[in-house]
Amino acid sequence: MCGIVGYIGEKNVVDILLQGLYKLEYRGYDSAGIAVIDKDSNELKIIKKVGKIRNLESSMKEDGFFNINTEIGIAHTRWATHGEVNEVNAHPHYDEDKTLAIVHNGIIENYNVIKKWLEEKGVKFKTETDTEVLLYLIKYYYKDDLKQAVLSALKHVIGAYGIVVISKKEPGKMIGARNGSPLVFGIGKDDFVLASDVSAIKPVTDNVIYLEDGHIIEVTKENYKILTLEEREVNAKVHTIDWELESWEKGNFPTYMEKEIHEQPNTIINTTRGRWFFEKGELKLGGIEPVRDLLKKTKKITILGCGTSWHAALIGKYWFEYYADISTEVDYAAEFRYRNPIILEDQIVIAISQSGETADTIGAIREAKIKGATVLGITNVVGSTIARETDAGIYLHAGPEIGVASTKAFIGQLTVLLMMAIYMGRMRRLSIEDTLRVSEEFKKIPDKIEKILKQKDYIREIAGKIIKYNNALYLGRGVNYPVALEGALKFKEISYIHAEGYPAAEMKHGPIALIDENMPTIVIATKDFLYDKIISNIKEVKARKGQVIAIATEDDEAIKSHADYVIYIPDTIDMLTPFLSVIPLQLLAYYAATLKGYDVDKPRNLAKSVTVE
Ligand code: M6R
Repeated sequence: MCGIVGYIGEKNVVDILLQGLYKLEYRGYDSAGIAVIDKDSNELKIIKKVGKIRNLESSMKEDGFFNINTEIGIAHTRWATHGEVNEVNAHPHYDEDKTLAIVHNGIIENYNVIKKWLEEKGVKFKTETDTEVLLYLIKYYYKDDLKQAVLSALKHVIGAYGIVVISKKEPGKMIGARNGSPLVFGIGKDDFVLASDVSAIKPVTDNVIYLEDGHIIEVTKENYKILTLEEREVNAKVHTIDWELESWEKGNFPTYMEKEIHEQPNTIINTTRGRWFFEKGELKLGGIEPVRDLLKKTKKITILGCGTSWHAALIGKYWFEYYADISTEVDYAAEFRYRNPIILEDQIVIAISQSGETADTIGAIREAKIKGATVLGITNVVGSTIARETDAGIYLHAGPEIGVASTKAFIGQLTVLLMMAIYMGRMRRLSIEDTLRVSEEFKKIPDKIEKILKQKDYIREIAGKIIKYNNALYLGRGVNYPVALEGALKFKEISYIHAEGYPAAEMKHGPIALIDENMPTIVIATKDFLYDKIISNIKEVKARKGQVIAIATEDDEAIKSHADYVIYIPDTIDMLTPFLSVIPLQLLAYYAATLKGYDVDKPRNLAKSVTVE
């Protein structure tokens, strides 16, 4: 969603801001802009454009923006919430005499009340945004101390924000603040940077402070000071970004999504490194060790997430029940937070989120905590809100995921869930013999994924056959039912072809009415104990002239007589099949979208981290 960068220092400000915007592109946006203070004229120079950053860059070249002598500036990518997508509503916002400029992520919930109050005082608004209201509230309090003005304004604000504000009256200062929307502060050698995402900080420095909700930071060229809204000074810990700059690059791949699909064997290796000792059948999960006693006695788990993370949770449920004998329920984070969930004594809630910033999941965590649950987090982003707000947790170590369609993070989430299920299983009835068997099999999964990736040309060919249709059905049973849901989500979100996932047995209760020669059905039909039943489901589709693409276990020759196309995956134990069955589905979606000429990394209307409800 929206992205922020602010920079103060002697390097090329305009260049750093622009590169920061490029790094934030993956989050999803519809317009972008930059504001700097011209050192020679002491004027605020602002440029905004609808559409891609490269449009903004071209206009910056035409307007001589790169020649401005400046030491401070802010920049923003906007994903519209209040007001349509146009240049006026794009950030940075500025006041009528161009003294102040602000960039803002989040939503000011009481902006209408404040707007009315300011209008009564004579303020004329030129945009439909909540951000302009916040800007004028700051201006209302602004005499000669920007930090005090921001502090005073924020005391009246209800809602979520990550902001950076600059003023030409104090050209050597930027003020940042956060509440519910991430803001990270980067400490360079002789410069400072504020951004909503470490990707925009990494080119400047590896040393960062993750600002907390209710913190405000005053940054000058020489120094910085972090305060609470009550003006108590904060001594914040400096962390090091441990992701390499190259992990934000595409390398030799045409898209981030293709790169990330191919990184999945390595994701498994990185996620298990130092944690799962396959030969001994041992697991060391330091992140959840502090709650070990609770893990041992808990009788119920609730797993929460959204989108792909919710699908990972559904698969996790099978593992917690199978390996750890623990009753497990899964809920959409947005549903959990607004109903009245029953939390039992000693219950554990697990929140899953790649970004660690999904607003619905954060809301659900807070609700679970109010109800007394111990909440564990599974996230990929170090220092993210979910990482900080949960009681304990496990990072994916998947490296940055840039493509909006989640792939390698999903595999990382599955890996962590499986490790947790086995870890908790060992505290209960899971024998060392069974643990060694699953360890032995799991160790082979990365190579088996490599083998599936080698079939990408064949999968591209199949994608070419189905992109002419408007709908697709995805079916799976047991632990592969959530994989069917995930396949359908991947397919629709990037190819814009409508797709639905179902547990295969449910087809006859409704969706079967849709089957005809124009409705391809993708069926996960691996050789497990439900194989005969899924073959029956395939026959039901064929009897209605539906086309079937089967994901089958290698050496299953018989399935060729039932399906139109067969994509083979290597054999493994039933419970581990999701790690393999999802790979062809990711590739099918990928090729359907690229063959249709779509931008898979930034599908329309979507954002990488969904920080609004
Ligand atoms: O960052 P999160 O894992 O919390 O994100 C949840 C969903 O927004 C995300 O998985 C979304 O569904 C992806 N676009 C799926 O590819």
